[in-house]
Amino acid sequence: MNRNLHILGLETSCDETAAAVVRRAPGGTGEILSDVVLSQLDLHSAFGGVVPELAARSHVLTLDRLIAQALEESGTPLADIDAVAVTSGPGLIGGLMVGLMTGKAIAMATGKPYLGINHLEGHALTARLTDNVAYPYLVLLVSGGHTQIVLVKGVDDYERWGTTIDDALGEAFDKTAKLLGLDYPGGPAVERSALTGDPGRFRLPVPMRRDPRLDFSFSGLKTAVRQMAQDHAPLEPQTIADLCLAFQTSVTKSLGDRITMALARFAARFPGVHAPALVVAGGVAANKAIRATLQARADEAGFHFVAPPLNLCTDNAAMIAWAGAERLAAGLPASPLDLAPRSRWPLDEDVAAAIGHGKRGAKA
Ligand code: KG4
Ligand code: ZN
Repeated sequence: MNRNLHILGLETSCDETAAAVVRRAPGGTGEILSDVVLSQLDLHSAFGGVVPELAARSHVLTLDRLIAQALEESGTPLADIDAVAVTSGPGLIGGLMVGLMTGKAIAMATGKPYLGINHLEGHALTARLTDNVAYPYLVLLVSGGHTQIVLVKGVDDYERWGTTIDDALGEAFDKTAKLLGLDYPGGPAVERSALTGDPGRFRLPVPMRRDPRLDFSFSGLKTAVRQMAQDHAPLEPQTIADLCLAFQTSVTKSLGDRITMALARFAARFPGVHAPALVVAGGVAANKAIRATLQARADEAGFHFVAPPLNLCTDNAAMIAWAGAERLAAGLPASPLDLAPRSRWPLDEDVAAAIGHGKRGAKA
C-alpha cells in the first residue's frame, strides 16, 4: 500500500466509549490524529464492577457525539477516511453491538470498507504505532479482562503462549481491594495502600512459580488474602497496607517468573533477533512495581522494554484504528456487513481454550 491510510476506529467492548482517527504512512509509521475516550467509571463504580446493560446504554447515548468529535479534531473529513475499524470482540455483547451497528451504518453510508477488529489485536499492535516495534516481539497484556503472553509474528499472526487459568490480574486487584474495603477500581487503590506497607509482615505464595506452562493464576492468592484479612478483623489501616503490599509483591514475582521464562523461550526460538521487544499493555501496566520488574527482567534477558503511554495501554479507539490500518496495509480483506460480535474471541484460535482466554467484561 503506497499511500497514506486514514482509519476511523471505534471501541465499545467494555466500559470505555472511544473514537479515533489514525494515519498510517506507506513506510509503516503511524500517527494519531485524534483519540477521544469517554470512561464510564463513574457509572459503574457504585456497583464495584461493569454492569453490561448500563455500559451498552451509555455507548448508545455517547458514541455518535464522540465520532463527530474525533473526526473534527483529526481535521479529516469523513470522505477522506479509507475504512471504518470497529471492535467486534471479545467483550460485552451489548456494547459490541452498539459499535458494530454504528460502524456498519457509516461504512454503508460512505461506501468505505468495514473492518471488524479483535480488541486483543488492538492491544498487541499498539507498540508498532507508538514505537515502530519490528516483528517478532512479545506482548504481556494485563488488564481487567485479560492476562496473556502473546507472541506477535505479524499482522493476523499470533501465538498465545500463556493465559490466566482463573482471574485476570486487574480483576484480582479489584477483588482484593474490595475484600479489604478499598475503592473500585482496585488496582490504583491497592498500589497506593501498598506504599506504606511493611514488607516483613505477611508472606503470600507466588502463583505458578517455575511452572513450565506460561500460564497465570491469581484466585488462590486472593483467597489467601481473604483468609488473612478474616484472621485480623477488624482491619486496621496498617494491616490493609501490609496485605496490599504482600499481594502486590506476590503477583509481581509471579509475573517476573513467567516473563523470564517467556523471554528465554523467545530467545531460543529466534536466536538471530537482536534486542527484541517486550511490550506491556492493559491498565495494570500503570503499576510501578510491576513495570519496574518487567523492565528489570527485560534488561537481564537483553530485551528492549516498551511501555506505551498509559492512555494507549488502557482501552482506546486509536489502537483499533491502527489495527485496521495494519490489516488494510497487509492486504487483508474487509469484513462482511453481517459480521457478528463475539463475546469470546481468542487471538490465537489454535490453542486450547482456558477459562480466562479471550474473555472480556469479567470485572464485575
Ligand atoms: O485495560 P483497563 O483500563 O480496562 C479493562 O480491562 O477494560 O484495565 C483496568 C484494570 C482494572 O482492573 C484496574 O484495577 C487495573 O487495570 N489497574 C491497576 C492499576 N491501575 C489500573 N492494577 C494495578 N495497579 C495499578 N496502578
Ligand atoms: Zn483492553
